[in-house]
Amino acid sequence: MILSEPKASLEKDASTLYAYKKQLDASFVWGVSASAYQTEGAYNIDGKGPSIWDTFTNENKNKIKDRKNANIACDFYSRYEDDLKLMQSLGINHFRFSISWSRILPSGTGEINPAGIAFYDRLIDTCLRYGITPWVTLYHWDLPQALEKRGGWTNREVVNWFTGYVAICVKHFGDRVQHWMVMNEPMVFVGAGYFLGLHAPGRRGMKNFLPAIHHAVLSMCEGARAIKSIYPNATVGTTFSCSHIEPYRNIEKDHLAAYKVDALLNRMFIEPTLGMGYPIDTLKPLQNIHQYILPGDEYKMKYDFDFIGVQNYTREFVKHSWFTPYLNARLITAPNRKVPHTLMNWEVYPESIYHMIRKFDAYPGIKKILITENGAAFEDTHHESLISDHLRTTYLQDHIEQVLRARAEGSKVDGYFVWTWTDNFEWAEGYHPRFGLIYTDFKNQNRIVKESGLWYGSFIRE
Ligand code: NOJ
Repeated sequence: MILSEPKASLEKDASTLYAYKKQLDASFVWGVSASAYQTEGAYNIDGKGPSIWDTFTNENKNKIKDRKNANIACDFYSRYEDDLKLMQSLGINHFRFSISWSRILPSGTGEINPAGIAFYDRLIDTCLRYGITPWVTLYHWDLPQALEKRGGWTNREVVNWFTGYVAICVKHFGDRVQHWMVMNEPMVFVGAGYFLGLHAPGRRGMKNFLPAIHHAVLSMCEGARAIKSIYPNATVGTTFSCSHIEPYRNIEKDHLAAYKVDALLNRMFIEPTLGMGYPIDTLKPLQNIHQYILPGDEYKMKYDFDFIGVQNYTREFVKHSWFTPYLNARLITAPNRKVPHTLMNWEVYPESIYHMIRKFDAYPGIKKILITENGAAFEDTHHESLISDHLRTTYLQDHIEQVLRARAEGSKVDGYFVWTWTDNFEWAEGYHPRFGLIYTDFKNQNRIVKESGLWYGSFIRE
């Protein structure tokens, strides 16, 4: 019997990944992603108004792990220049970040805060000075608290509030920002914030969920139109969360449950924007959304985006369950399935991102896909000044390989952004799950490049 040779080292064989990489031309975008609330800090200075996340974390401390908040976070507000310098030194020249609505408009509408505009002017100018292209998300979950008091995403007026805010940002920054994303993961902020009550503003139930869905869809499309009306040549996208869904058992009930969860998690927001309407045939409880749809909305809720941002981390297994209202389905977690997983309890399953690209690519009408987030939270190990995070490096290599595999097979995927640049505030999970390529020492705000950051930099520079 011939035994195979033991591997010379623990290094994974990345030859397929590098072979795929060789096929790319220079237009493929490699970047990193972050967001305002998770990194900026400076939550109440220079005229910034409170957002729903400021209120949620400071007033409902038990909702967040270890009762944390992002009042200081990574202090990106004052350290952005050092962060950008470090980014440039690694050779990363595309940076996706978001604008805090209540830094620009402390009350959500009305008076503009000049210090807020000045901050994003500095940030954008500094990006450009370091040769870094800014990719700006207009809404990454931090609604001004003043607007939540007026009903937040459940009030149809939010569409006007939002487009007003978008127009201000685009007028001020559109001379230097070419790439915009209207929203980040609407299913997550609407689902966790207005149905499950786990994220800000902590509301629950169908009566909040359904109007919030429809108003988010309208805002996404009307927001995109607002950008183009000011800068017709701007590149306008929006981003969606998604997971490859599989039935837990090969029985009809689980297949049906998986089909419904797929509609909820993967189809709810993309399909209306493509003119396909909400997936009501699959998700019957959604039919009450009709009461929020006004005549003329069938046009307003469609938009032909220049690109779609796909954000994928894992896959989900779904089992039929009588105990879950509306869905009759529940997810079986990775720890319960005893499969490798991250600190978020998300299974490590690189093929998921391949399936998601293929799924989005199959919709007629999607012009271009970018992976606007992908990454992992693992425990980092410190060896003096080196931070070794072998699992993260392997995760990134395996996922990028699947992205490039989809591209090699003909999918229109043109870029990839790692979530995230520095370790930061992970919403209800606080600061424990660290997703960064850069380690943040939250005691003194020191940054240390992790091995994964060194690897990613060298990979994209090659
Ligand atoms: C999705 C979100 O856009 C981001 O804010 C979050 O930190 C990551 N995924 C990881 O959960």
